[in-house]
Amino acid sequence: MKGIILHGGHGTRLRPLTHTGPKQLLPIANKPMSEYCVDAIRDCGISDIAIIVGGIGSNKVKEYYGNGSKFNVNISYIEQDEPKGIAHAINLCKSFVGTEKFLVFLGDNIIQKSISGISEKFESSNDDALVLLCEVPNPERFGIADVKDNKITKIIEKPKNPPTNLAVTGIYFLTTKIFDVFSRLKPSWRNELEITDALQMLLEENNIVNFEMITDYWKDTGTPDDIIHANGEVLKNMQSYFLGTKQDGSELLGNTMIGTDSSISGTSKILGPCIIGKDCTIGENCTIGPNVSIGDNSKLTNCNIQNSIIMENCIIDSNLKIRNSILASNSSIRLDAENDEKILLLGEGTKILL
Ligand code: G1P
Repeated sequence: MKGIILHGGHGTRLRPLTHTGPKQLLPIANKPMSEYCVDAIRDCGISDIAIIVGGIGSNKVKEYYGNGSKFNVNISYIEQDEPKGIAHAINLCKSFVGTEKFLVFLGDNIIQKSISGISEKFESSNDDALVLLCEVPNPERFGIADVKDNKITKIIEKPKNPPTNLAVTGIYFLTTKIFDVFSRLKPSWRNELEITDALQMLLEENNIVNFEMITDYWKDTGTPDDIIHANGEVLKNMQSYFLGTKQDGSELLGNTMIGTDSSISGTSKILGPCIIGKDCTIGENCTIGPNVSIGDNSKLTNCNIQNSIIMENCIIDSNLKIRNSILASNSSIRLDAENDEKILLLGEGTKILL
């Protein structure tokens, strides 16, 4: 089998974080979200992966993943010139796929449990496609499957009146049959070639579109809240480690992951689940966690942070309580005790709620 990861798009709902790079490279527990897709595909025994790039920062994706050797897979890149939909993107992979079955991941979909068992089942089955479904509270936002007698009867993209709450996740097991359907697909109301329309056509033409349920965790990380939620969830399932140094008096409680050469001062507390990258300095009076990721080389003093993602090379020295926030790389928040006028240098689309 082959693997495909969709890594394009403009990530408009995540601006300003996506002004400088693709959303799929935003970190969850200090690792780009699309790397979780690479891991899941490799875990299915697949070693040839095509990453479809397009839109902002394609070069950053290529720089990060290279030829895949660092990740124990072979990675090639396919350019999508415009975001014309998931089906359009997959169709660009026709010659990459050849005659094999394949697994497609939307690079912003996060799961926690291995799907290698499902992959094996699909490989030895006669299914023409297999989708992973997950119950969601807001079915209008997703492709939705109607299921009767344990069979999918219909697949609809973002229905106004959803027949079920079963979202078609962005993880698709496909065969080359889908390419025939793609060639007959018409653009949808949002002017995209929809994978859901293609799957519906497969169904209408009496092909087998099977499904499996995701019963634990799945998230399409479209918004900042989704990313913060996924971050907490991934952290919860990580194994603690401690590779740094800590002064007497500091407290580390629960699931904490502390990277190489990071130091924690005696008056600070780290409340798990929490990850702190390499070369970080956690100075005086910090309470960090739960559900916090701190990127490499960040320096924190006098702060109280929960449920947040602080990326690499950030400086925080303030008495602010930071909650439900995402701070991009190289940002700083500092309190100037001698000057009560606030000095802000904000990028386009920045959101501050004080
Ligand atoms: C896309 C698909 C939708 C699917 C979702 C999962 O939606 O079109 O069917 O349920 O991904 O992440 P989009 O992210 O383009 O709104």
